[in-house]
Amino acid sequence: MTDRVIPINDGRRTKPFPPKGESGGSERSAQDRLGRRLHDLRISVTDRCNFRCIYCMPRDVFGPDYAFLPKSELLSFEEIARLARVFKDHGVEKIRLTGGEPLLRRNLERLIEMLADIPGLDLTLTTNGSVLAKKARALKAAGLTRVTVSLDSLDEAVFRRMNDADFPVSEVLNGIDAAAAAGLAPIKVNMVVKRGANEDSVIPMARYFKGSGHIVRFIEYMDVGVTNGWRMDDVLPSAEIVRMIGEKMPLEPVEPNYTGEVAERWRYRDGSGEIGVISSVTQAFCRTCTRARLSTEGMLYTCLFATAGYDLRGLLRGGTSDEEISDAIARIWRARADRYSEIRTAETAKLRKIEMSYIGG
Ligand code: GTP
Ligand code: 5AD
Ligand code: SF4
Ligand code: SF4
Repeated sequence: MTDRVIPINDGRRTKPFPPKGESGGSERSAQDRLGRRLHDLRISVTDRCNFRCIYCMPRDVFGPDYAFLPKSELLSFEEIARLARVFKDHGVEKIRLTGGEPLLRRNLERLIEMLADIPGLDLTLTTNGSVLAKKARALKAAGLTRVTVSLDSLDEAVFRRMNDADFPVSEVLNGIDAAAAAGLAPIKVNMVVKRGANEDSVIPMARYFKGSGHIVRFIEYMDVGVTNGWRMDDVLPSAEIVRMIGEKMPLEPVEPNYTGEVAERWRYRDGSGEIGVISSVTQAFCRTCTRARLSTEGMLYTCLFATAGYDLRGLLRGGTSDEEISDAIARIWRARADRYSEIRTAETAKLRKIEMSYIGG
């Protein structure tokens, strides 16, 4: 077997838990060092994916010899649900399942049922849509609230170049239709825009979904991980995207749905729906960042661009009580000072950050 080209989870890159302070306790709704509360938990349920998107899992790194996590390393559904309950007690109101491709995790519907049993949660999932047509009804029946589907172009050749898995556009569109028919609405469609790769697909994408009730969000290409060879020159700023679309289909800004919403909203002046832009590179939104990320094997990360995390699985499997885990989470959150996108430079972009497919999108 060949060694992994880039050791992504080498040594589990753990950080020590912050020490117990005088304030102690697992008080709910703790604020971090920048006054932000914990509101969203993103849970990655697999590090595998059937796509090899050029900006996320480049094929020359994630090739046939790439060592994905073995099953014994993954958190079980019981472990995930147990942590979800503890996080709920810390004020988490939204859980998003991510991956890799979350629908590749076997029996995911069972996990969704278990999470749907926890009252008061917005329970959603981000998928590449490849098996959504088959699974949409079962996901809804299990208690999923809504879905976000990634789709980087409607142009067959461009989409296949972006997903690098020869996957056709039509099947993702079928997945979106099936999700809508199953009532997993409102559906959001995420398009990562990489200059020189799919910028010509921006207008057709906006036009296609205008009036459909689905919300397309254009995402600036980010320097997540280390394998995608990110360069600032490849970023098409959101302001440019809004200008391009607005020229053809006039837009006006809309107030956020909630404080800390990642996407900036714009609506068509003719009343035929809205789009969003996610500008992590040109307009960082760290100030209101309320997100924590739990990896497939139970590492907790307090930033998408983290270089190390906290080993919650070690606590789960070491006989730690819920109260102690809760206390550890409170200490981690209070110690948090992450604001990577605000302080990004060409130098920080070279840090050994965890890969998107592992940490969850
Ligand atoms: P809703 O508003 O609940 O629909 O979800 P969302 O916009 O929070 O979730 P989604 O997963 O669709 O986020 C869209 C994309 O924004 C992600 O895929 C990431 O690319 C990016 N994103 C989400 N959260 C963060 C974050 O905390 N930091 C940065 N830099 N990017 C993020
Ligand atoms: N930059 C921006 N968005 C990314 N995603 C994955 N990698 C990147 C990146 N480098 C997006 C996917 C999907 C979500 C999980 O994250 O397109 O919508
Ligand atoms: Fe897979 Fe999503 Fe990454 Fe593409 S962006 S390789 S679909 S996890
Ligand atoms: Fe939050 Fe880190 Fe993203 Fe800033 S860069 S918004 S702190 S996850």
